[in-house]
Amino acid sequence: MEETTVKKRMLSGIKPSGDLTLGSYLGAIKNWSARAEEFDCFYFMADLHAITVRQNPADLRRRTLEQLAQYIACGLDPEKNTLFIQSHVPQHAELGWVLNCYAMFGELSRMTQFKDKSAKNADNINGGLFTYPSLMAADILLYQPDLVPVGEDQKQHVELCHTIARRFNGVYGDVFKIPEPYVPKVGARIMSLTNPTAKMSKSENEDTGRILLMDPPEVIMRQFKRAITDSDTEHCVRFDRENKPGVANLMTIYSACTGETYEQIEAEFAGQGYGAFKPKVGEAVVETLRPIREEATRLMKDKAYLESVYRDGARKAGYVAEKTLRKVYKKVGFVAP
Ligand code: TYM
Repeated sequence: MEETTVKKRMLSGIKPSGDLTLGSYLGAIKNWSARAEEFDCFYFMADLHAITVRQNPADLRRRTLEQLAQYIACGLDPEKNTLFIQSHVPQHAELGWVLNCYAMFGELSRMTQFKDKSAKNADNINGGLFTYPSLMAADILLYQPDLVPVGEDQKQHVELCHTIARRFNGVYGDVFKIPEPYVPKVGARIMSLTNPTAKMSKSENEDTGRILLMDPPEVIMRQFKRAITDSDTEHCVRFDRENKPGVANLMTIYSACTGETYEQIEAEFAGQGYGAFKPKVGEAVVETLRPIREEATRLMKDKAYLESVYRDGARKAGYVAEKTLRKVYKKVGFVAP
């Protein structure tokens, strides 16, 4: 008889609010692709989240499909992972509404990302930007995952998801599984190359401090040669995030791309200045991103294939999501349709 083992479940998503960066890759996707054998994995393009900031519709559509091609190019095999577009699974918006009624004003007001984004978009501090964490909680809880891999900046949202889930379970019994955030040891916070105190962000315009997944080698090399290092006098490659944030960021990137530890990197570049180190980091990034760029470019030409992947993904995701939503609707007292 065939042995059936129930795999643990893993889920994560990225907003197609800008082209994916080296930060999105090292902080998120790189840590997803290795887990398909061990976990039942769900990854999505968070387009509902993207419109909390004004988007150009044509760009949003293009980026959503590109993001899918990039997920696959980064090693997420659609045969082994469920890849889908968030707006294709309406249960996200439906559970998002319910959870809004279990998220407190004070909790939502304390979210760092809400405060940052409100400051940046003072003319568009909309309700969606404020209630974004309830939708994110719905994204997670619909799938009852064991693990939610995210970069450092999303940890606060996953923690609020815990609070909301516990509150709901406290009233109605064990409806939601409480998932663990998984934040990688190296790469959880990749900073801008020109401002190492700010995270490398895909929503910034024309920022020379970010590397896009699809940047060609010459652009990547130019960006790294220009990268800000620190104005200390010792001028040596040493990991000290507080006093040498620029060098620490480059070391993090190099470590994530080559697998070397910080000690090994310090030994490799002992006696050499930043001038020698920066192009080496650039080369490591070029080699890491080259196969991804080439495969994503190839996949983008195959629209029929991408369509079959997201359709199939939405069907599988919808099946799981609907089960949770039905349970929630019943618990809160909605009449069954
Ligand atoms: P988003 O789209 O801002 O980022 C996607 C993922 O990439 C990580 N990340 C980084 N990691 C390291 N260094 C960086 N510079 C960097 N920039 C981004 C983020 O931490 C994140 O893991 N709200 C989420 C998307 C989302 C989601 C979810 C995630 C919606 N629903 C449910 C997990 C589960 C967001 O805006 O991520």
